[in-house]
Amino acid sequence: MRHKIIAGNWKMHGSREQNSLLVSSIAAASHALSHVRLVLFPPFVYLDHVARLITQTPVGLGAQNVSQYDCGAYTGEIAASMLRDCGCDYVIVGHSERRQLFNETSASVAQKVLAALNAGLTPILCVGEMLTERERGLTESVVAAQLQSVVECVGAANVARIVVAYEPVWAIGTGKAATPEQVEVVHAFIRAFLASVDRVHGESVSILYGGSVKPDNAASFFARPCVDGVLIGGASLSAPDFLAIAHAT
Ligand code: PGA
Repeated sequence: MRHKIIAGNWKMHGSREQNSLLVSSIAAASHALSHVRLVLFPPFVYLDHVARLITQTPVGLGAQNVSQYDCGAYTGEIAASMLRDCGCDYVIVGHSERRQLFNETSASVAQKVLAALNAGLTPILCVGEMLTERERGLTESVVAAQLQSVVECVGAANVARIVVAYEPVWAIGTGKAATPEQVEVVHAFIRAFLASVDRVHGESVSILYGGSVKPDNAASFFARPCVDGVLIGGASLSAPDFLAIAHAT
């Protein structure tokens, strides 16, 4: 089923003190936002802390990354089952910062999606093109390849269990969001791709937009029926901004 998801990716930001302030404001406002699903993605080491702060609230919890391995001698890695154990329901997989800065490949991203699904997590699979790729008219082929490797790994029957976030790399952290028209074109392409994999369940996948979403542009994205939610980076570190975006739904 398609849900309105407002996801806050904190990236490598926060402290116990800052998290307490941020989450208490969001938690207090969350009961009035029951028509949307607010999900916070703190750094791993704060998952447990944030899990306690959101107890008795509708706010959801997710991680920013996950290992493709189940358990074992993988120093520094975090297994999907551990994320479940810490109260996560979601995990971001294949964020462009992971792909570009930490050399994640389509193959490892697909394995991570599979590991997340096997543990009962909902993966938020990030896809999107770089500026040079857009300029060369390659947006759809880049996004298709990113989706295809995941579908091949997890199987068509599991597609309905994934959330897709379209995040053009050139829009992330730049203050230069894609236009709603650009988002609509790529979301329609992603929807058609998913429907070609599984005609019935492809329709039920939530497709988010991410990249410089702010309070002043959020409503323009939500005005498009193809946008099921947003993945927010910078603006998710401010409770008023994060909540203003959620209210814009
Ligand atoms: P931004 O980040 O909102 O700061 O552009 C989005 C993201 O990385 O998901």
